[in-house]
Amino acid sequence: MKNEKSIINLAFESSCDDFSCAVLSKISDGGASVKILSNVVYSQDFVHGIYGGVVPELASRNHIKASLPALEMALDKSGISLGDIDIISATAGPGLVGSILIGLMEAKAIAYALKKPLVPVNHIEGHIFSPFLEGDFLETGNIFPFIALVISGGHSHIYLVKSHAEIKLIGRTRDDACGELFDKVSNHAGYGYPGGRIIDELAEKGNKDAFKFTLPMEHSHNLDMSFSGLKTAVISVMDKYKFEKSEESLKKEKETFVLDIFASLRESVAKILFKKVAAACESHRVNTIAVSGGVSANSRIRSHFIEEGKIRNIKIIFPKINLSTDNAAMIGYAGYFSRPIDPEKNKEEFFNINAKSNWEL
Ligand code: KG4
Ligand code: ZN
Repeated sequence: MKNEKSIINLAFESSCDDFSCAVLSKISDGGASVKILSNVVYSQDFVHGIYGGVVPELASRNHIKASLPALEMALDKSGISLGDIDIISATAGPGLVGSILIGLMEAKAIAYALKKPLVPVNHIEGHIFSPFLEGDFLETGNIFPFIALVISGGHSHIYLVKSHAEIKLIGRTRDDACGELFDKVSNHAGYGYPGGRIIDELAEKGNKDAFKFTLPMEHSHNLDMSFSGLKTAVISVMDKYKFEKSEESLKKEKETFVLDIFASLRESVAKILFKKVAAACESHRVNTIAVSGGVSANSRIRSHFIEEGKIRNIKIIFPKINLSTDNAAMIGYAGYFSRPIDPEKNKEEFFNINAKSNWEL
C-alpha cells in the first residue's frame, strides 16, 4: 500500500545478462529514507554458462521473455499497483545496446501511458551509490566525499565522488576488468561462467599463500590498474602444471592445485585493489571507500578491505550481497537523485530518450 507522503519509483535494469525490475519508496530527503519494496532479478547465468561468457543476442532475446513477468512479480511483491507509481527509472547505458533497449523501452512505454516522468540512469552511477542503499550503512547525514571503486565484468574504475552531480574518474584498468580476469581464468580451468563467483567459492578451500603473483602496476605512481598480465601469469602456471603420477593421485593433487591457484589469485586481486583505493584516499584526503559491482560480492575482497580499513582508519562500505551484482533497486536509488524527464512537459526530450551503450560518467 502506498503511503501518501512517499514517492514510489518503478525501476528497470537490463544492461547485460540480468533483467531486473524493482519498486522503491522514498519518504523524505536523505538516503536512509529509501526502502526497497521489491527487487526481482531474472538471471541468465544458465543461458550463457555453456558459452563461457555473455552472448549479446541471446541476452536480449531472453530479456524480452522476462520483461513482463519481472514487472508483474515486482508489483505483486511490493503490494503497489501501476496507478500508485510516481516516477520510472531505467538504465540507459553503458552496456549492450540490444539488452538496454528492452528495459528502457518498457519503462518508456509505461511512463508515457501513466503520464509520469522517466529517469534515464547511468548503470555505473547505480553501482556507485548501491553501498548506501539498505545494508549496514544507514546515514541521513552527508556521505560525501568518498572514493568509489566499481569492480564488475566490464569495469574496474575508481572515482572521486563529491556529490551526486560531481563524479570524477581518477583511475581505471588499462586492459581487462577484474571480473573479466576471474571469468577468463575460470573458463580456462574448465569451471565456466560466472567465474568470479565460482572462483570465490572454490578459493575458500585453497591456500592463499601457495603462489606469489606479482601485483600488477603496484608501483605505478598512479591509480590505474591492469589485470591482463595477472591473467596470463595464472594461466601459464596452470598450463605448466604436469604430473607423472598415477591417475588417482593426479586427480587429487590437481584439485588441490586449482584451489590454491584460485585462493592466491583472489588474494592478489584483493591486495592490489586495496592498495589503489588507499592511495586514492591519501592523495584526495578522503577517508571513505564505497566498493560496488559484481566483484564486490567477493568474500576475500570484503574481508581484506575491512581488515585494512580498520588499520588505516578508513571507513569501508559494501552493498548487501544481492545489491552487488546487477539489479534494478540500485538503478531506482540513483534515479531519485537524477533528472526526471516528463512525457508531457519535456515531450521532445522524452521521445528522444535512447540507449547509450558507451555512456561515460
Ligand atoms: O556488476 P555485474 O553483475 O555485471 C556487470 O555490470 O558486469 O558483475 C558481473 C561480474 C562477473 O565478472 C562475475 O564473475 C563477477 O561479477 N562476480 C564475482 C563474484 N560474483 C560475481 N567476482 C568475484 N567474486 C564474486 N563472488
Ligand atoms: Zn553492473
